[in-house]
Amino acid sequence: MTIAIAFDIYGTLINPHGVVDELTRHLGDRAQAFSSLWRDKQLEYSFRRGLMQRYANFPVCTRQALDYADKLLQTGLDDSVKDSLMQTYRKLPAFDDVAQSLQALADQGLRLYGFSNGTAEAVNGLLQHAQIDQFFTGVVSVDEVQSFKPDPAVYRHFSKVAATDLDRCWLVSSNPFDVIGAVAVGMKAAWLQRSDTVVFDPWEIEPTCVIHRLDELQEKLTL
Ligand code: LAC
Repeated sequence: MTIAIAFDIYGTLINPHGVVDELTRHLGDRAQAFSSLWRDKQLEYSFRRGLMQRYANFPVCTRQALDYADKLLQTGLDDSVKDSLMQTYRKLPAFDDVAQSLQALADQGLRLYGFSNGTAEAVNGLLQHAQIDQFFTGVVSVDEVQSFKPDPAVYRHFSKVAATDLDRCWLVSSNPFDVIGAVAVGMKAAWLQRSDTVVFDPWEIEPTCVIHRLDELQEKLTL
C-alpha cells in the first residue's frame, strides 16, 4: 500500500491572506492587522466549536470571525463589503510553489488529498480556481465528521477515507496545531514553515520533518 498524503489547504496550499488587497481598499494600512485577526479568530472559533460539540461549518466560523474583527477594530464594514470579502475567500490564490510541487508528486504516482476544515464544496472550488485540482485523488473535509482539526476523529476519518493505515498517512501543513494533531494520532507530518518568524509550539510533540518550501517535500517522504 502506497502512502496517502493529506495536504492542509488554508495557509499551506492556499493563501488565506489573499484578501489583503481587497481589505486595503477599505482599510488602508490596517488591512494586514485585520486579516491576521480575522484568520486567528476563525481558527479559535473552530477550536471552540469542536470542544463544545457545537458544530457549524467553516464558512460560518469565517463569517462570524469577520464580524468579530470588524467590531473589535471598529472598522464599520457594511454587509455588502463583508459579502464581497466572503466571495473573495472562495477564490483565494495558491502559493507560488504549489502547482509545480504537486505535479512532481503526482508524477510519482503518489495519492494526494486535500484535507481541510473547509467544506468539500469550498475546497474543491479553491483547487479548481487555482487550477491544481487535477493533482488530487480526492478532498476530505472535517464536515463529514462534524468536527474540526485537531480533534483526533478528523485524522482517523482521513485514514479511513484514504483506506490507508494511520502510520502510512502523511499530513503536510503549515499550521503547527494541525501537525501536532496528526502526529498525536500516529500519522506522519511535515511542517511547512513558510516564514522564519513562525514558531512551532514547544510541546512534547515534534513534526516528522520540517520543510521551508513545498518542493522540499519529495526527498523527505519515507515511502
Ligand atoms: C484547514 C485549516 C487548518 O485548511 O486552515 O484545514
